[in-house]
Amino acid sequence: MDHRKPPILPTTSSSPPPSPRRIPVLGAVAAAANKLTRRPLRAALVGTIALLVLLYNAHAISTLRRDVGYILRPLWDTPEPAFNVIKHFPRAGDDNDEQWCGAHGWATRRGGKPVVVDAVPVSTELDMLEIRWREYAPFVDILLVVESNMTFAGTPKPLHFAAHRARFERIAHDAGAKLVYRAVTDFEPNLPSGSFKNEACQRQAISDLIAAERGSGAIPPGALIIQSDVDEIVSRDTLQLLTMCSGFPSQLHLQVDNYLYSYDQPLNDGGYWRPRVVTVPAGGEGVDYHHGRGSDDLLAAAGWHCSFCFPTLQDMRAKMTGYSHNDRLTSARLLDERRLRRRVCEGRDPFGMWAEAFTFRDVIAHSGPTRRRNAFLHVPVALKEEPERFSYLLDKGCERPNK
Ligand SMILES: *[C@@H]1O[C@H](CO)[C@@H](O)[C@H](O)[C@H]1NC(C)=O
Repeated sequence: MDHRKPPILPTTSSSPPPSPRRIPVLGAVAAAANKLTRRPLRAALVGTIALLVLLYNAHAISTLRRDVGYILRPLWDTPEPAFNVIKHFPRAGDDNDEQWCGAHGWATRRGGKPVVVDAVPVSTELDMLEIRWREYAPFVDILLVVESNMTFAGTPKPLHFAAHRARFERIAHDAGAKLVYRAVTDFEPNLPSGSFKNEACQRQAISDLIAAERGSGAIPPGALIIQSDVDEIVSRDTLQLLTMCSGFPSQLHLQVDNYLYSYDQPLNDGGYWRPRVVTVPAGGEGVDYHHGRGSDDLLAAAGWHCSFCFPTLQDMRAKMTGYSHNDRLTSARLLDERRLRRRVCEGRDPFGMWAEAFTFRDVIAHSGPTRRRNAFLHVPVALKEEPERFSYLLDKGCERPNK
């Protein structure tokens, strides 16, 4: 998920207010106000009615303000500075590795495969975590996961991973990887909506775990650390490229294609840049675990970002109320089963928001419902292995259960 602040309309105005005498409408309003002040009872009545109308529509007004902010974003916001995009080529054959690395401007790696670490925060998304780790299995050595007993918003939640740890120990065992887990128990309760404080605390816990594993020698210099949210999955092909080649930037962003609700519903927005692979430095310099910009280099088409890809509508509701962007929840009606299901089936934003785009052309192009892909050739490997079990992420997204 992105960290951009919700849009705020510019509120300052440099021009002085127009004179009432020259503008007939304002003149009329001034006259009416003048009349009302001479009749206090009527003024009180009109005032009360106006207040009630305003309160009744407060939700509509705040939604309108938000929407106008998004639609007019090209006027008040600037896009992320451009990346140096590294084109991504397929592997031609088993004995052409030098050529494959060379096509990206890199060399083949000497001294064997680097240690690969996946470091990830998790909340309720256990299926997504399984899909992710099964994708990484042939290449990953350390699976590092952190969860908390509170949501980012600061309400209590179960330790889901701990409750299902055996399931993930099996995946780690099959991958020949070590599982490192920590429960964070010092989140701040009841944060104001839209706060990122607990999310930052969770990322710090991951940085600390990485430091501890480096201290013990389990993560040596030259190791690759994948830093991305649980629903941002790097493809196996990409991991093969990165473990076979050397000479890429020590902080390399990985562009992932955006999907909403399922891998059948791609967004038409050019993808997402936040996932990153970091090469552990030789010196004692720390490795900072974050979700922001680490460099200007971006490897194209490196994986998938499937937002709100939960097995049940109830899980979606938990996310809508519990994550750092819960300020987007302008009305409890958005959580209603019938409405939420309609949004899922139609491929519309769960909060009814406009796309975040920086030109008017893109605001139009990126808004509206998703278009079905109707093809599942390029999806994480677990979905190919168990299409029935993960059918809600393929073509059965609309039929997923409520609870
Ligand atoms: C989280 O865990 C800590 C340590 O076990 C405990 O003190 C705290 O009460 C827990 N918080 C919630 C909301 O369960």
